[in-house]
Amino acid sequence: SMTHSHVFNVEEVPRTRLCRTKSIMTVNGQFPGPNLYARRGDTIVVKVHNHASKNVTIHWHGVKQPRNPWSDGPEFITQCPIKPGASFTYTIILSTEEGTVWWHAHNDFDRATVHGAIVVRPRRGTRYPFPHPFQEFVIMLGREWWNRGANAVLEEALSTGGEVESSDAFTINGQPGDLYPCSSAGTFRMLVEHGKTYLLRVVNAAMSNGLFFSVASHTVVVVGSDGNYVKPLSADYIMITPGETMDLLLEANQPPDVLYYMAGRAFSYLSLGSFPTTATTAIVEYVSDLPLESTKPLQPTLPYYNDTAAATNFSFALRSPANAAHPVDVPMTVDQDMFIVAAINELECPQASCAGPNGTRLRASLNNISFVDPPIDILEAYYAGIEGVFGENFPNMPPYYYNFTATDQPLSLLLPTLGTEVRVLEYGARMEVVFQGTSLVTGDNHPMHLHGYSFYVVGWGFGNFDKERDPLRYNLEDPPIKNTVGVPINGWVAVRFTANNPGVWFMHCHIERHMIWGMNTVLIVKDGEGSKEKVLPPPRHMPPC
Ligand code: C2O
Ligand code: CU
Repeated sequence: SMTHSHVFNVEEVPRTRLCRTKSIMTVNGQFPGPNLYARRGDTIVVKVHNHASKNVTIHWHGVKQPRNPWSDGPEFITQCPIKPGASFTYTIILSTEEGTVWWHAHNDFDRATVHGAIVVRPRRGTRYPFPHPFQEFVIMLGREWWNRGANAVLEEALSTGGEVESSDAFTINGQPGDLYPCSSAGTFRMLVEHGKTYLLRVVNAAMSNGLFFSVASHTVVVVGSDGNYVKPLSADYIMITPGETMDLLLEANQPPDVLYYMAGRAFSYLSLGSFPTTATTAIVEYVSDLPLESTKPLQPTLPYYNDTAAATNFSFALRSPANAAHPVDVPMTVDQDMFIVAAINELECPQASCAGPNGTRLRASLNNISFVDPPIDILEAYYAGIEGVFGENFPNMPPYYYNFTATDQPLSLLLPTLGTEVRVLEYGARMEVVFQGTSLVTGDNHPMHLHGYSFYVVGWGFGNFDKERDPLRYNLEDPPIKNTVGVPINGWVAVRFTANNPGVWFMHCHIERHMIWGMNTVLIVKDGEGSKEKVLPPPRHMPPC
């Protein structure tokens, strides 16, 4: 295996989209940021210099970082932020990831523009479990362009507790696409040759929405997701939730004298203004001597913005290969189960400025605890035994029973408890976690993400999870391996994993506004007995708080 070294200069640079120029946070002046390339089992070292005027941290989403939480990145969970003028070196230890994972800022709203892909190819001398593609393209989907700036939107969401406004455009590789004003020149174009097959590594880096995505006239074959292979799945469209990645094979087999849009459009429980009609686009163009029949690309058909069935039909069709080369080792029995309700809540408003429903401010919670960032990072406090930074009382169950899909809820449920509560797990515990959505205040699709692990998605459904009956329908044969799973609106998802990576690992909804409102918790996995089962010693220079 190899070590790859990179330098990330974080800097604010002016960039123009939608006819407006503003200063955005970037890595090396690029938006989206640089893509990193490695092979399975390699190590990537990234030295981050913060030349910006604000704090930053970087997370390596989907990289399990065995025993190395020090380089995981979420601010106040595994490190304190890198201050302006300061530097920090991350060591990214790849282990079983193979496919596409990604990196992004994990502080404030900076991941809007500070993100890129991590492409993990098979080990030297081994091959993809599908015919070798002619060429590969990274497709970063974003919903990143707020004309007034990402952090201005964050500040308003925090100070008023109101909904975050919809951004002014979704983007493909940083570009809204030529259906938007002032956007033709930059529109991403993918040049293909007829008869060849291409591998598209699609990442949903958007802050707030799942996206339906498809390529006009072409069928794609899904071959991977979240840094793991899946059984090949043909699809006319995909749905990709914030935080997920999808690896797609695209065969260039259509008439070459036509241009084709690839397009992404929001999957959303509510129509936010012009969402249903607004798509971010890029252009698939065949290399050909034939004159173009038209300079207007064909548009793909995409499911309607609130088509939950279209979303779940796709997402829950993914399956592990489950063969000798890619075996499944899902825990068949469980040592500890957690039942976690993800809810949007209301808080009473201290000032008159709140923009939530009925003059309240919005919060979010897991099992009715709305997470509050501690003053120093939890990893340091845990490792050094500093008391009073976090509590260990994150509940295994919600504090009340209620009907999760009902619209009338007792008022007491609207008010969450604010706190920094974690759950401590024994090394090696075989875990089952059921995430339950609810329509308290408002239902939504919650992409739940766990750091330090991937997990098997063994079951899902709409309505309330039934502890007696639903486990009988679990898929323990070929469940997909994921690190982010979309919990459908007013439904549930069950995941299993073995807690064999000691450390401090963030677990949260990957919709940015839900995360800043507190839909988070932390799993601390204790060291095991052997020296190979212990958290590595900290690097010499962790950023001070
Ligand atoms: Cu991609 Cu904690 O996030
Ligand atoms: Cu959420």
